[in-house]
Amino acid sequence: MTELTYIQFAYLAAATLFIIGLKALGSPRTAPRGNLMASIGMGIAIVATLVMRDVVNYPMILGGVVVGSIIGMLLATRIQMTAMPQMVALLNGFGGGASLLVASAELLKGTVAPLSVPSIAIVVGALIGAVTFTGSIIAFLKLQELMRGQPIVYPGQQFVNGLLGLGVLGLCGLVAMQPDQLPAYAAVLGIALVLGVTLVIPIGGADMPVVISLLNSYSGLAACATGFVLGNSGLVISGSLVGASGIILTKIMCDAMNRSLTNVLFGAFGAVDTSAAATGAVETRTAKAYTADDAAIVFNSARSAIIVPGYGMAVAQAQHAVRELMDDLEGRGVKTRFAIHPVAGRMPGHMNVLLAEANVPYDKLVEMDDINPEFPECDVALVLGANDVVNPDARTAEDSPIYGMPILNVDQAGQVLVIKRSMNPGFAGIQNPLFFLDNTMMVFGDAKETVLGIVEAMKDL
Ligand code: TAP
Repeated sequence: MTELTYIQFAYLAAATLFIIGLKALGSPRTAPRGNLMASIGMGIAIVATLVMRDVVNYPMILGGVVVGSIIGMLLATRIQMTAMPQMVALLNGFGGGASLLVASAELLKGTVAPLSVPSIAIVVGALIGAVTFTGSIIAFLKLQELMRGQPIVYPGQQFVNGLLGLGVLGLCGLVAMQPDQLPAYAAVLGIALVLGVTLVIPIGGADMPVVISLLNSYSGLAACATGFVLGNSGLVISGSLVGASGIILTKIMCDAMNRSLTNVLFGAFGAVDTSAAATGAVETRTAKAYTADDAAIVFNSARSAIIVPGYGMAVAQAQHAVRELMDDLEGRGVKTRFAIHPVAGRMPGHMNVLLAEANVPYDKLVEMDDINPEFPECDVALVLGANDVVNPDARTAEDSPIYGMPILNVDQAGQVLVIKRSMNPGFAGIQNPLFFLDNTMMVFGDAKETVLGIVEAMKDL
């Protein structure tokens, strides 16, 4: 067998590990194993690539590996869980940027045949890579609040974007047919970089996680095109896997919010501030405020409890405190479960990851469709820093921006306890009628401190 055959076998093994790893990532129980398998696959792919004869400069590659690993390790260990979406945005951007650079380097060699697989793959990789690069930077800036999260819209915006899109596609065709047309290639890059910005600025911060997942898919497609440029089957397969899984995740998120992808990309959701403060509407209903001691009394007489975690639990890092509360309740014979909404928090699986970190057993986590029929039988529902995902308006108010979004029906529980700091709205910027229901008790305060307060108060009961 030749060296090339060994390398192809190594890529096949890597691709197999990627696919098995991806499958294992589908459940929190098997996810760590999936992560490990995919990492081993990536290790094999890297080694196989490095033994190729085309590699001419090992010291430079080693330097890149060392610098990249240090930056990666620092980012991974220091990043807050709540900032994970913007970190993923940056990584997608780097992926797109890398595809753009590789495609450009191949074109600049001047050996690309007109209208060939490499010439077409170069323009596709450069186009998608450039859009992904600047689009991801804008997504990062919005999420990091370094730029306004609200959609930036202006008259004729979609016409301008359409015009830029058509222009860049025409130029791509020209470069694919005549790869020596460097000014046309430079124009492709310039327009694609601008397009990345103009396509993402009209999308509101609330929809950024969906956009990031879509850009993740784009970065995979750009890598796949780069695989064709280099004739590297490992890159083609891994790029396709990223492209496909990114688009599947995008669809799952859109379905969970009951919105179409077109609505997310072009609907400028959040452009109009519908909060009472912004519209000047005066809130006439009153919410009833209680203390952690009151909440402890409610729990003390309960036989079943469902805890609904949301973004506020992540902000307060209240997962360990809520684990303590669960242990205490279970010790008293209160059947306790966690209800997980698919878009609770700010990224897919956000709540699962935090609760797993606090060693909450997986069988305590129940998905929305399975737990919803249980709320009418449940004595206490504790809403911990969640808001939009428990807003009954999504079920009943046709004029609500979140109408149709599937929610957790906590309002049907015997008693609802809501822990949050104020009456401020959640991500969608709208008020929640749950807070004014007769069976709702508001316990205002930081999620972690309040839960610890409840645990403390229960010691005396
Ligand atoms: P939100 O509706 O954003 O509500 C979170 C609540 O947490 C806020 O009302 C806030 O109220 C409270 N909070 C913040 N910090 C807190 C703290 N330290 N202690 C206690 N409470 C705190 O969250 P949710 O119910 O999880 O819903 C998620 C939203 O994100 C949905 O609108 C969803 O569509 C959107 N979204 C999610 C995703 C994914 S994949 N997860 C993707 C796109 C969009 P106070 O300020 O009064 O404390």
